Amino acid sequence: MQEKLSMHGSWTSRWIFVLAATGSAVGLGNIWKFPYITGENGGGAFVLVYLVCILLVGVPIMISEVLIGRRGRHSPINSMKDVAVESGRSPRWSAVGWVGALAGVMIFSFYSVVAGWVLHYIAGMVRGDYIDIGSAMASRQFEALLADPKVLLMWHSIFVVMVLVVVAGGVSKGLERATRVMMPALFVLLFVLLVYAMTTGAFMQGVEFLFAFDLSKLTMEAILVALGHAFFTLSLGMGAIMAYGSYMPSKASIGSTVLMIAALDTLVALVAGLAIFPIVFANDLDPGAGPGLMFITLPVAFGQMLGGQIFGFLFFLLIGVAAWTSAISLMEPAVAWLVEKFPISRASACMMLGLLVWLLGIACLGSFNEISDMTVAGMTLFDLMDFATANIMLPLGGLMICLFAGWRMKRVALEEELSLSKPWLFHAWYLAIRFVAPVAVAAIFVVNLYNKFA
Ligand code: PFF
Ligand code: NA
Repeated sequence: MQEKLSMHGSWTSRWIFVLAATGSAVGLGNIWKFPYITGENGGGAFVLVYLVCILLVGVPIMISEVLIGRRGRHSPINSMKDVAVESGRSPRWSAVGWVGALAGVMIFSFYSVVAGWVLHYIAGMVRGDYIDIGSAMASRQFEALLADPKVLLMWHSIFVVMVLVVVAGGVSKGLERATRVMMPALFVLLFVLLVYAMTTGAFMQGVEFLFAFDLSKLTMEAILVALGHAFFTLSLGMGAIMAYGSYMPSKASIGSTVLMIAALDTLVALVAGLAIFPIVFANDLDPGAGPGLMFITLPVAFGQMLGGQIFGFLFFLLIGVAAWTSAISLMEPAVAWLVEKFPISRASACMMLGLLVWLLGIACLGSFNEISDMTVAGMTLFDLMDFATANIMLPLGGLMICLFAGWRMKRVALEEELSLSKPWLFHAWYLAIRFVAPVAVAAIFVVNLYNKFA
């Protein structure tokens, strides 16, 4: 029988799938968000909960997404529909794909703004803007950047173009080619920076901050943040991994590849923490500085250190590459759907979608200047996009995917797709996807909505 393949193309090997999915997973979430939310939530205890969420919720859901994508061999919207129909269920399950594509566009709009800051800091490192600046000066520089819509617009626009050029190239000439170049570069940069952090002197303090599991510091809010971040960091709940799964070779084992991707993403987050916190502590700075941690604290640190200009440049370059490979996957589900639905080329689909995310991004960057007083429940548009996606849409999408794979697909189809060597592995996954993950997501959800609004 002829193997069923996606009209968009396929990865040439399972390794490319692992690297591409890792490229999607490893991004601003690992290097910008993870360290600052860990800092805000007190360190070790938060990390422990996050690790539990990755293992018990993230990994089983990622397996389901890859499985559905590979079985459907279409964009997430159409894969959900096809697999639902094949399983004798309503085609309306495609709604999961719709929510996902929308979440992708929304995430992109603020992701691109932050990626724009990164590009600005790469340029600043090259110019030597941060040499010997103090904390006050660093804050002022960051605030000046946020207050300047023209500069933000320039970097945001450049980032949008960088991403669209790759997506327009298609699965083999765009996504795979970018993966082959950027992922090895990312690992080399990360390794160099880790070694540098080890020589700064406060390495053990950083280790202690990340791994001292003091559970008394844990709040319900922190648990929601940890869960939401588990989805965000693994690119789950919105179809990015489902789209990438639809280009995966049929023979490759889903379970082991997913474990590898989740492990690499976790490793990069921890290494980023180990690279950042020692620098923070060595320079007597505050680990709980929030979203500005990377953009205020680090330039100060790099500005004082031997070789700081070079390593600071490499550091922001690393984040730029990571953000780039992630943003590509934010666009892919919607682009793939446009190409399937309308008689248009991939390039045209990219232009249309690009215009949309560019405009939405402009609205987001306005949150820091022109429209900073436009708030909903105390959140600017930028905050709202982050909150609505990470804490609501992704967990909701993940929950629906659990329920679909666990309770609506046929068990034989699941077993066939996973073809696990040991029966107990299947049982463990099935248990996680039917009970553990949905109950955990639903419970954390309900408790937090209750806390927020009651
Ligand atoms: N996983 C990315 C990160 O950690 O930065 C963010 C992301 C990319 C989320 C792609 C969702 C997605 F579809
Ligand atoms: Na990530």
